[in-house]
Amino acid sequence: MKKLLECLTEACEEAFEACGYDAKYGKATVSNRPDLCEFQCNGAMAAAKEYKKAPIKIAEEVVAELKKSFYFSSVEAVNPGFINLCITNFIAADYVDKMLVDGDLGYDKEEHPKTIVIDYGGANVAKPLHIGHLRTAIIGESVKRIMRHAGNTVIGDVHLGDWGLQMGLIIEQLRDMKPELVYFDENFDGEYPQEAPFTLAELAQIYPAASARSKEDAAFMERTHLATVKVQNGYKAYMALWEHIMNVSLPDLKRNYDNLNVQFDVWKGESDAKPYIADMVQDLVKRGLAHESQGALVVDVAEETDAKEMPPCIIRKSDGAALYATSDLATMVQREQDYAPERYIYITDKRQEMHFTQVFRVAKKAGIVGEDTELIFMGLGTMNGRDGKPFKTRTGGVMRLEQLISDVNDAVYQKMAENKNMSEEDAKKTARVVGLAAVKYGDLSNQSSKDYIFDIERFASFEGSTGPYILYTIVRIKSILRNFEEQGGVVVEEDMDITSPVNASEKSLMLELARYNEVLTQAYQEIAPHKICQYIYSLSDAFNSFYHETRILTEEDEEKKLGFIALLVLTKKVLEQCIDLLGFEAPDRM
Ligand code: ARG
Repeated sequence: MKKLLECLTEACEEAFEACGYDAKYGKATVSNRPDLCEFQCNGAMAAAKEYKKAPIKIAEEVVAELKKSFYFSSVEAVNPGFINLCITNFIAADYVDKMLVDGDLGYDKEEHPKTIVIDYGGANVAKPLHIGHLRTAIIGESVKRIMRHAGNTVIGDVHLGDWGLQMGLIIEQLRDMKPELVYFDENFDGEYPQEAPFTLAELAQIYPAASARSKEDAAFMERTHLATVKVQNGYKAYMALWEHIMNVSLPDLKRNYDNLNVQFDVWKGESDAKPYIADMVQDLVKRGLAHESQGALVVDVAEETDAKEMPPCIIRKSDGAALYATSDLATMVQREQDYAPERYIYITDKRQEMHFTQVFRVAKKAGIVGEDTELIFMGLGTMNGRDGKPFKTRTGGVMRLEQLISDVNDAVYQKMAENKNMSEEDAKKTARVVGLAAVKYGDLSNQSSKDYIFDIERFASFEGSTGPYILYTIVRIKSILRNFEEQGGVVVEEDMDITSPVNASEKSLMLELARYNEVLTQAYQEIAPHKICQYIYSLSDAFNSFYHETRILTEEDEEKKLGFIALLVLTKKVLEQCIDLLGFEAPDRM
C-alpha cells in the first residue's frame, strides 16, 4: 500500500510545482512538534536559497495551493518557513481501514526477492551455551524473520562450532578418566559401540575441566592439539567419539534454542565444510592468491584505503591445520553450490569484524562468490551487567544461558504474583512467555552494534519500553475483544469498518498504525529490528491513551462501537505481527 507519507509528499510536490518551484522540495515528514501539527514540510527553507526569496513567502504560496487538497484539514505557513499539516479525520480512518483489508496490513514486500543466507547462533558443540551466544540468537532470529516476511527466500544456518579444539580437549580428558575405553585402544578394529561413553551431564563437566587443565598443563595441552588434528583428519576411533559428542550435545542445544523460540532451517557446522577445503585451497594457490609465509599459507587482503593494519588471511597453519577462516571460506563454497545466495548476513560479536573482513575479501578476490554478492557482517555490541562490565554471574563466572533465562522468568513471576488471578501452573507458563519477551525486547530494542546493559529488573518491568509492557497492551486488547464477544458481539474481520475518529487520541492511534509500512520497510532495509521495537512502544502508548480516554464497550452508538472494535482488531494484528518479527508472542492473559 502506498505509504501515507508518500501520499502527503506527492500532494506537497504538486503544490510546489504548481507554484513554479521544483517538486523536490515537497518532502513531507512526521511532525516533530505534535502539539502543533501532525505532519510538516520544510522544503520552503531550502527552496528559498535556490529562488532567492523569503522562505515564508514560498511557504505561503504553497499553503494556498495545498488548501485545495482533500488530504488536509489544516495547512499553515509559520515562520521562518515551515508548513504545518494536519490530515482530515476521513483520510486517517480511510487509510487504516484499507490496512485492515490488505492481506499484509499494508506492508509492501521486496520487489526483487533474493536468496539470503543468515549465519547466526554459532553455538559450539559440547560447550554450554552462555550469554555470549544470546544476542546472535535473538537478533539473528529476528533478522531472519524480517527478511523472510519481506518475501525473500531465507536460509538460517546455525553454523555450529563442531570442529575445533574442544573436541581434542574432551577426547584427552576422557582418555584420562576412562583409559579402558576401546576408542583408546589402537589395535581395536571392531565396531565401535552405539552408546556414548558419557551422559549429557558428564559431558557438561568434561569440557570445563579439560579447558581449565589445559591452561596449566602444557603436556596435556599438546595432547589435545594432536587429538584435534586427528579428528580433523578423520581418525576412525576419534570420529566415533566425535559422533557421540555430537549426538549427546545436539539435542540439548536444540532444546535450548527451542526455549528461546529460535529455529534454524539448517544445522550445519564447521565440520561440513571439510569436503570443500582441499579444492578451495588448491584453487587459491592456482590463482596466485595464496602464498607461503613462514611455513603457513596466506592470502594478502590489505587495501590501500585501510585505516587500520589488515594482516593477511591465514588459510593453513604450518602444521597443516585448517583455521577458522578456512572453514568459513569453504562453507561459502558449499553455500554457493547449495543455494547460490545473493546475500550473506553473518551475525556475531563485533570482535570478529577483522576475521570477516579478511574472509569477505578473499571470497571476492577468488571468485568464491560473485562480484555482486552482498556480504554483510553484523557485529554486535557486548551485553554488559549493571556495572558496565561484561555480564557475569554473581560469583563472577560466565553466565549460562539457562540460568539467565530462569532468573528472568523468576523476576517476571514475582511481578505477576503481585496481582495473581490464575493458577500456579498457568502463572508459571505465562511467566515463561513474558520472560522471553522481556529478554528479547530488552536486547532487540538496542541498536545491535552498541553495547548495552542487561538489567533484569528493568527488562521485566510492566511499564516503559519493555517486552512485558507491549504484551500487556496486546493482552488488554484481547480481553476487550473477549468481553465484546461475551456480550454477544461478533468479530467478522472481512466486513468491519474503521470509522472516523471520535477524539484526538483515537486519531493519534490511527496515525501510529498508518506508519506500519514505513517502519517495517526501514527495519528491513536497514536490518534494524530496534526500529520495530521503537514503533510498537509508541503504538502501545497511543493505544493505551485511546483506551483511557474512550468508552469502548459502553459506547451506545452501535456504528461507533463497531468502528472501535475494528480499530482494536487492526492494532492487535499490527502488534502481533511486529512481535512475531521480533521472535516472541503474547499470552491470552497475564
Ligand atoms: N562458533 C563461533 C563462536 O562461538 C561463531 C560462528 C560464527 N559464524 C561463522 N560463520 N564464523 O565464536
